[in-house]
Amino acid sequence: MTAHARRIVRQKLSDEPNAGLAADVIAGLSAHPKQLPPKYFYDAAGSELFEQITQQPEYYPTRSELEILDAHAGDIAKLIPEGAALIEFGSGSTRKARLLLRELRTLGAYVPVDISGEYLHQETAALRQDFPQLNVVPVEADFTKPFSLPESIAALPRAGFFPGSTLGNFEPHEASAFLRHAGEMVGANGVLILGVDLVKAPELLHAAYNDAAGVTAQFNRNLLVRLNRELGADFDLSAFAHHAFYNAHKSRIEMHLVSARRQRVRIDGASFQFRAGETIHTECSYKYSVDSLRCLARGTGWDPLDVWTDAAGYFSVHALRRSDEV
Ligand code: AVJ
Repeated sequence: MTAHARRIVRQKLSDEPNAGLAADVIAGLSAHPKQLPPKYFYDAAGSELFEQITQQPEYYPTRSELEILDAHAGDIAKLIPEGAALIEFGSGSTRKARLLLRELRTLGAYVPVDISGEYLHQETAALRQDFPQLNVVPVEADFTKPFSLPESIAALPRAGFFPGSTLGNFEPHEASAFLRHAGEMVGANGVLILGVDLVKAPELLHAAYNDAAGVTAQFNRNLLVRLNRELGADFDLSAFAHHAFYNAHKSRIEMHLVSARRQRVRIDGASFQFRAGETIHTECSYKYSVDSLRCLARGTGWDPLDVWTDAAGYFSVHALRRSDEV
C-alpha cells in the first residue's frame, strides 16, 4: 500500500460507518491479484438483486434448499431445544427461517444477524407481523467477525442456523475458523443447521452463475456502483465485465470483474491501475460433498447428526452437534 493509500485508510478509519469498507477496498485493490470481499455485495440494492438471483431458473441452490427445509422442518425442529435462541448468521430474506419457525412453537428467541441493517429491520418488522408470539431480536453485525449477542438472550440455550451455502464464500481456513467460532457461540451441546451447496456437473454450476437474464452480472457490478456512491470512486461501469466460471481443481465458482481496457480508477485520491483483461476477484463459492463437509465439521469440533438432500442431489442441509471434546 502506498503512503497516500495508508493516509486515506487512517482518515476513513475515524469516519464511521464506511471505515471498514474503505480499508478493505483499498487493501483488496492493492493486492495481486486484485480482490474485494463478497460481503460488500449486500447493500440494500445488492440484497434485492440477490433475491432476484434466487428466482432465476438457472440458480438452483435456493429452490433446492427450500425443498429440503420444507420436507424436513419437523425433523430439524426436534433437534432445537425448547426455549432456545435460534441465531441465524446472514439472515437476508428470512424466507428459510420461516419454514423452521412454523415448527418451533416454543422458541425463546429468533436472532437474525445481518450486515445489511436496512434489510434486517424491514424483515424484522414483517416477521413480527407474521409471527406475533415470536421474540425477534435482530443484530446488525458482520458475522465474519466476532460480535456480541444481546444481553436479553444470554441465559437461553442456543442453536445456530447458517443456510444458503454462505459457508461457500469462505476460503477453507476461514470456513474452519467460522465453524469453530459458531461452536463457541452455541456453547456445549449446541446444534448448528448448515446449508451447503454440493459439487455437481460443471455445466449446471456454470449456468447458475451466468443466468441468461444477466441478474448475476448486475449483482456483481453493483459492487462498483456501491463503491462509486459510498466511497466516491470513479469506476466506469461499462468498462468492467462479469466473469464467472467453475474452477474444478478448487471445487469453487469464481466471480470476477474484468477490466475491458487499460484504465485507472480513483477512490478518494488513491488511484489503481488496471491492465486490459485484469480482473477483480469478487467472490468464491466453494462446493462441498456430503463427506468433505462432514470431515471439515469433525475437524472443527462438531459431530454430524443428520444430513438431508433434495431429490436432485444438488444441495445438502446438515445437522451438527458441538462435540464435548472441545
Ligand atoms: C449467497 C454466497 C450462497 O455463492 O451462490 C449468488 C451468492 N453469488 N450468485 C452463492 C451468489 C452469485 C451465493 N451465496
